[in-house]
Amino acid sequence: MTQTKIPVDPAFAATAQITAESYARDYAHSIADPNEFWAEKAQRLDWITVPTRIDESNFALDDFRVRWFADGELNVATNCLDRHLATRGDKTAILWEPDEPNEPAQHISYRELHARVGRLANALRKLGIRQGDRVTIYLPMIPEAAVAMLACARIGAIHSVVFGGFSPDSLAGRLADCDSKLVITADEGRRGGKRIPLKANVDEALKRPGTTAVETVLVVRHTGAAVPMQMPRDRWYEAVVEGQPDACAPTAMNAEDPLFILYTSGSTGKPKGVLHTTGGYLLFASYTHACVFDLREDDVYWCTADVGWVTGHSYIVYGPLANGATTVMFEGVPNHPDHSRFWDVIDKHRVTIFYTAPTAIRALMREGAAPVQRTSRASLRLLGTVGEPINPEAWRWYHETVGEKRCPVVDTWWQTETGGILISPLPGATDLKPGSATRPFFGIRPALVDANGAILDGAAEGNLVLLGSWPGQMRTVYGDHARFLDTYFRTYPGSYFTGDGCRRDEDGDYWITGRVDDVINVSGHRIGTAEVESALVAHPKVAEAAVVGFPHDIKGQGIYAYVTLNAGENPSEALRKELIAFVRQEIGAIAGIDHLQWAPGLPKTRSGKIMRRILRKIAENLPDQLGDISTLADPAVVANLVRERRDA
Ligand code: WTA
Repeated sequence: MTQTKIPVDPAFAATAQITAESYARDYAHSIADPNEFWAEKAQRLDWITVPTRIDESNFALDDFRVRWFADGELNVATNCLDRHLATRGDKTAILWEPDEPNEPAQHISYRELHARVGRLANALRKLGIRQGDRVTIYLPMIPEAAVAMLACARIGAIHSVVFGGFSPDSLAGRLADCDSKLVITADEGRRGGKRIPLKANVDEALKRPGTTAVETVLVVRHTGAAVPMQMPRDRWYEAVVEGQPDACAPTAMNAEDPLFILYTSGSTGKPKGVLHTTGGYLLFASYTHACVFDLREDDVYWCTADVGWVTGHSYIVYGPLANGATTVMFEGVPNHPDHSRFWDVIDKHRVTIFYTAPTAIRALMREGAAPVQRTSRASLRLLGTVGEPINPEAWRWYHETVGEKRCPVVDTWWQTETGGILISPLPGATDLKPGSATRPFFGIRPALVDANGAILDGAAEGNLVLLGSWPGQMRTVYGDHARFLDTYFRTYPGSYFTGDGCRRDEDGDYWITGRVDDVINVSGHRIGTAEVESALVAHPKVAEAAVVGFPHDIKGQGIYAYVTLNAGENPSEALRKELIAFVRQEIGAIAGIDHLQWAPGLPKTRSGKIMRRILRKIAENLPDQLGDISTLADPAVVANLVRERRDA
């Protein structure tokens, strides 16, 4: 198969930190002697106690552990703040761009950020938050989100950031799962001119069972909307930090102490609390950020993710701040007030590195080149993508129209579970191929396996696994270690199973093909089919539901639901709308069903298992590719669904 290769730009490589030669040499070293390699890299952090024990991980189930730097001690907030004060105190740490372009941006220096974090950390201690307590952060994209994360890190509290787009029910589930003691929220969020009633959602969530551990709700006054305050539970953020000293003694944390929990969807059940720890996570976020983005002191770096997702954790907050970078935080959306917004912000703040999602690129590509070309983008030197496979057409548009072929594009593959980037080009070292995430990062050993777990050599396609640990790997599912082992380590014993399919070409470059489990990736956001199904069956008129993903031009994948109504209920347009609204209300706006088909029956095996493979093909409108349906209990069910799909 012939494919375009875009060789490393010699001008970029001339000044890059990592070249093709140094990548080859250091990658070989990282695999041959991980302990030596990571002990040396660990020196990029400030340790209270320098670790002597490096990688003690073992994926074998009879002696399983993921453990790095076990005798090291450090504090994440001092690594992100205090150690920069001497040389970068006046440098902008966070450059905040508001939703409305005519409102002023904020340039928060490292010195100011350090002080804000210190005041909140002191306030949290005064409110009774101790090391190991869980604090939930449900905030819009405002600097207080980063301040709150770092304040927790400073005192050893474990934060759980919940994306502001999640519903009260989803928030309640996450509060209950980790017994959060305190919630930090805002009166309202803003996105693209719309308001999000965050405080009202918290009030609703706290009426749900299981959330009684919450003692305090801190409310940031952001839009100034009137919100009811329930005393003594609810406190204004400004009032509690006022008068607190800027200095706050950091807690010395063991490298393996938890740093945060982040809930993410899996193929079964409710979302999992992915737990990341202190030393390995911070090292991996900071080192990948420095290498993949070829970070320089004067860069203005912008990642457009939300802090509610792992990308926001690792590549807006922890990686960039640990590296002393200027990180842009954007409250808005790409199409408000118009489709030039991203490019206008790049020109306004002279952004040099830009990192976004394929779904945003595809949506902007649809608007044509004009909104891009009326801006300069002269400051840009590097582009990145994350979150889902990028189709070669969108990759080329990004490279040619946005970057004018001047800027390498790094397609970075990773997961909430991996903590940081595992497969990506390094811009001064790797030849680029539109649509390929190319090569493993230092210390990463990807492999492709067939359905039986046999490792495939050379050019091949299979399921993507990782053969050994890396410092940023998740340590457990919070409160459910058995689920951690079951989900990731039992399918292919001895390796970590990613849930992704992947192809490796004859050059050894990796091409991620997407999820092979029951997770749908909608606009780069993970949604479990089981979650949407249980939301649907919670509706009194629904008997049964099956949900699958299907290809969607902008979102990558859309949500396709098959719904069986209770006996006596009749399908109608009104009921269809009601069910779609019901699911959005149960889970949040990211769970918008794109297509809902009435299904008088669902295709099941004789043992009662729904055959999703068939439902996926019907959703894609490929009825001639249904494959073997002989094991179905009632094949007529399929013929009905196919006919209705075709006639729809
Ligand atoms: C997908 C986001 C192809 C993949 C950091 C993975 C990608 C899931 C890429 C994780 C990429 C992420 N190319 N697919 N560059 N990046 N994915 O946990 O299916 O929100 O398993 O982490 O997104 O999504 P998560």
